[in-house]
Amino acid sequence: TVVDAAGQILLPGFVDMHTHLREPGREDTETIESGSAAAAAGGYTAVFAMANTSPVADSVVVTDHVWRRGQEVGLVDVHPVGAVTVGLAGTQLAEMATMAAGVGQVKMFSDDGHCVHDPLMMRRALEYSSALGVLIAQHAEEPRLTVDAVAHEGPTAARLGLGGWPRAAEESIVARDALLARDAGARVHICHASTAGTVELLKWAKGQGISITAEVTPHHLLLDDSRLETYDGVNRVNPPLRERSDVEALRAALADGTVDCVGTDHAPHAEQDKCCEFAQARPGMLGLETALAIIAQTMVEPGLLDWRGVARVMSERPAEIVGLPDQGRPIAVGEPANLTLVDPNHEWTVHGPALASIANNTPYEAMTFGAKVTATLLRGRPTVLGSVVQR
Ligand code: NCD
Ligand code: ZN
Ligand code: ZN
Ligand code: ZN
Repeated sequence: TVVDAAGQILLPGFVDMHTHLREPGREDTETIESGSAAAAAGGYTAVFAMANTSPVADSVVVTDHVWRRGQEVGLVDVHPVGAVTVGLAGTQLAEMATMAAGVGQVKMFSDDGHCVHDPLMMRRALEYSSALGVLIAQHAEEPRLTVDAVAHEGPTAARLGLGGWPRAAEESIVARDALLARDAGARVHICHASTAGTVELLKWAKGQGISITAEVTPHHLLLDDSRLETYDGVNRVNPPLRERSDVEALRAALADGTVDCVGTDHAPHAEQDKCCEFAQARPGMLGLETALAIIAQTMVEPGLLDWRGVARVMSERPAEIVGLPDQGRPIAVGEPANLTLVDPNHEWTVHGPALASIANNTPYEAMTFGAKVTATLLRGRPTVLGSVVQR
């Protein structure tokens, strides 16, 4: 295969630490196969499939299935994420060692399948993860306990009569887990950082020498709570879209490395669960196929990142954080490579039904972007050519 890359940008294959693929349990909204196609189309060569499936990925049966199915599909490496605990009570750690030793070789565990409310439980989990050499990803969403917390707590939610979700809810968990990671001598990764205050806490914790890393989603870099005016459920997401001042702080933090990388939080939902009134909608948005275009618009165009920086936040840093030595690194001559080719001057308009995901509701519907992934190579094999997925 010969790829004409004239005028295009060659980057290491993207790595997404935060993808929801809905298999097992909600294959009507995404499968490992459809999600792999979406990932490849978005320029990804590795994704981490989050643990909040049904059943939750709290056993090696589920995590091994996810890895095996991803390899069978062959479009992207689908790394399973395990749950930190088992059961609803959240009082028992999951068998992380068994999952780590399975064929899925679980490298990361998250609390999005079963929440970990007890700080001492989280500390034990961090200690255990440190001993095992795996990573815990904290999704900092405890306020979901407040059933009507649906939108960012601020003037917009107040005016629209939507239940408010304060910044402090996220920030208190970030602060808590930074301190617990310090005391446990462990690493912790913060999922979808969404507030200016979280950025300040990350700066403080990193300054203290705490092993903390963080990601930001494309939607939190682009959209703010002014989107809620229409009450359209397509804009509901956890954590909620915040204010423009948070968006600016997140962009600056991604540029200066306070926030380490981009995680899509790709979260497909059925049409009837999104195309409805805001407070009734399920939280979550598609993210894989639009991530690069949004990073180009929000970070490259304003001069906050150059393409070298894009390689860092989309590939090298996530590969390093989660421990994927074969992703996001320079390659030797003749070595089969994971590569993503980006056309930085390719206008395209998002149209949900044209996306590879099964779900096709998106907050970016009809929006025009200026950059596009045109080819993806997984270990030398083209998974996308001319923006078409090679199934
Ligand atoms: C996630 C999903 O749909 O799985 N939704 C989201 O809004 N990020 C779950 C979650 O993290 O709440
Ligand atoms: Zn939680
Ligand atoms: Zn989450
Ligand atoms: Zn998520």
